[in-house]
Amino acid sequence: MDRIRIIGGERLAGTIPISGAKNAALPLMIASLLTNETLTLHGMPRLADVSLLGRILGNHGVDITIAGKRAGQNASDGQTYKLTAAEIVDTTAPYEMVARMRASFWVLAPLLARCGEAKVSLPGGCAIGTRPVDLHLVALEALGADIELDAGYVIAKAPKGLKGARVHLAKVSVGATHNALMAAVLAEGDSEIVNAAREPEVGDLATCLVEMGAKIEGIGTSTLRVQGVPSLHGAEHYVLPDRIETGTYAMAVAITGGDVFLKGARAELLQEALEALRTTGVDVYEEPGGLRVARNGHGLEPVSVETQPFPGFPTDLQAQLMALMCTARGVSEVRETIFENRFMHVQELARLGARIDLRGDTALVHGVNGLRGAPVMATDLRASVSLIIAGLAAQGETTIGRVYHLDRGFDRLEEKLRKCGAQIDRIAG
Ligand code: EPZ
Repeated sequence: MDRIRIIGGERLAGTIPISGAKNAALPLMIASLLTNETLTLHGMPRLADVSLLGRILGNHGVDITIAGKRAGQNASDGQTYKLTAAEIVDTTAPYEMVARMRASFWVLAPLLARCGEAKVSLPGGCAIGTRPVDLHLVALEALGADIELDAGYVIAKAPKGLKGARVHLAKVSVGATHNALMAAVLAEGDSEIVNAAREPEVGDLATCLVEMGAKIEGIGTSTLRVQGVPSLHGAEHYVLPDRIETGTYAMAVAITGGDVFLKGARAELLQEALEALRTTGVDVYEEPGGLRVARNGHGLEPVSVETQPFPGFPTDLQAQLMALMCTARGVSEVRETIFENRFMHVQELARLGARIDLRGDTALVHGVNGLRGAPVMATDLRASVSLIIAGLAAQGETTIGRVYHLDRGFDRLEEKLRKCGAQIDRIAG
């Protein structure tokens, strides 16, 4: 298995292009199941999860062509995917596929809406908590689906089509909102999705669905009103920039005391995270076409954050902020409220010399004078990139194992960091 090696201590300076958002790209690809015409997605990131989802959609009958394949050639523009589900050839999403990527569970709604039936394995994905799917099922039932659970599969049927309804999500869930929305757009009549997730990636999916002919109001709010239509058509859509990648690089720049322009980043997608960074003493300002992040000379102040659904501080940046706070001047408090098992980076950060006390859902990060390089292990996507951030600041060599976690969600990470002066490479084997 490949490892990443970092020699820490280099200050990052230059420009990092921000890729299309993984968590927007995945539901957008799935939306191609809703029409027999071609959905063109521009600015797609080069990620293992995107390739895997492509294979899963291929099993259902989606034809995919990819342009801009050669990295290096307009690499920062991402790839263009053309997805055509002229005919759905299989409405089953098998365990072997769905267990490898949780987002693939979201094929449930479009298959059901378009074909009147779907059989989808219960999902897997990053091991960050129990991650149930009850809300997804309640939403689809409200829209008229009959749902049965059998041998690890969800079997959903709506032979006479889905019916518009009021769907109240008891808890804010990104995935349940995606599923409810993709079902409601082809349901007969009007629907209202109440307590919908407001994450920008939900807004991106909704915007794309409108471009495909769906009628949706309230995009970006917690109440989505949908007027069902009999069919959707093809469209062309640009994927939203990745706010989590943006926040991750911002923290990498901050820990090295660097100065970097994050090209394509949009401040309104991560206000709370940028506020937290400013509290630590990092300069973050908007410039035409992106964001500049700099920490020139002064130390890092501690900060307290609590993860919350958007527009709160994102759980997907919690591990990265914790890595940054390892070298702050004082004690930071980081509370995780979304996932119950998302502190697996703590013991790995400790190998690099971090001092972190875990108390239930809260981590107390005691800033230390410096980190020291060591061998560490990636445990999930965001945890692994927190080790990269810490490694960039640690004295000496850090090697990170199980890097396949990183490849799921970070487009050409080593290349982007190397161009800004980091000493980072991949060791095969
Ligand atoms: C999405 O996961 C993201 N994944 C996650 O990013 C992200 O951490 C999460 O939203 C929260 O922002 C993708 O977009 C592909 P949820 P999702 O349903 O949709 C509970 C990453 O690193 N819940 O919003 O699976 C759930 O257990 C990944 O890129 C139920 O109780 O998350 C959690 O506590 C990791 N019942 C909370 O809701 C349900 O039926 C929020 O989860 C569904 C969820």
